[in-house]
Amino acid sequence: MDTFICFIIPMIMGPIGVFDSGYGGLTVLRSIVDRLPQYDYLYLGDNARNPYGSRSFDVIYHYTKQAVDYLFSQGCELIILACNTASAKALRTIQQNDLERWVDHKRVLGVIRPSVEHLIHSSQSGVIGILGTEGTVKSDSYPLEIAKFSLQRKMEVWQHACPMWVPLIEDNSFDTEGAHYFISKDIDILLSKSKDIDTILLGCTHYPLVKNIIEKYVPNGVEVLSQGDLVAQSLEDYLRRHSDLDALCLKKGNVRFLTTESTLLFDERATQFYGSKVHSKQIDL
Ligand code: DGL
Repeated sequence: MDTFICFIIPMIMGPIGVFDSGYGGLTVLRSIVDRLPQYDYLYLGDNARNPYGSRSFDVIYHYTKQAVDYLFSQGCELIILACNTASAKALRTIQQNDLERWVDHKRVLGVIRPSVEHLIHSSQSGVIGILGTEGTVKSDSYPLEIAKFSLQRKMEVWQHACPMWVPLIEDNSFDTEGAHYFISKDIDILLSKSKDIDTILLGCTHYPLVKNIIEKYVPNGVEVLSQGDLVAQSLEDYLRRHSDLDALCLKKGNVRFLTTESTLLFDERATQFYGSKVHSKQIDL
């Protein structure tokens, strides 16, 4: 009689990885955890090498790939790049060239697509303003993606880079006279590009921290949109449509934090972005 040997490959479940260059992705993680509290999450902030905003394509790709490799090595099956700059400059290359090194089901998603899917329906005038880092704006990812997804409707996209904002936010000096000056000036520049802009997307995950200030300088009738809720909603939908991947995501409700900088500094600052106490561990990439 033939003997059949049956190997059962154990399913290894892991947390959902959330990556940002620093603190900004915590605003996205907050929305995700509020919407999907049953999952486990592993946040990684590359604070030691932040900001990414004005770095070259090669450097952002290299740093982001290191972070993705690290999160995969920690058991993550799905990673969200909660950083527009990394989504704009590294996501496509990682999806096309690097994912095949890992087992089939590993996935990396960004924040641009969910924002675009929302924007093309939410703007009445079809004229949208995007505020972001130099890297995001120069990549033209938003205009290109919006053109791809709005075939039924002609849309206009105006962008403006705000290189001063991330350092002011990371440094906790955004509610000062100087910061207000830069914020109001950048908004004026964006709005001067078209009088029909009715929606401004905060295309950098750091910017929700200054949303209240931004709204002071934006006329009535112009909506200012943060990405957190859009990304959380889209993730929920993605997991519903990919039950195989969902089955590999741990669901014990644990949230852990990693930073490439000192944990003392991270824990103190991260609370402001995340909205509750954070205890991180320092790692090297
Ligand atoms: N939070 C990142 C983003 O959404 C940018 C911050 C940085 O410049 O490192 O683009």
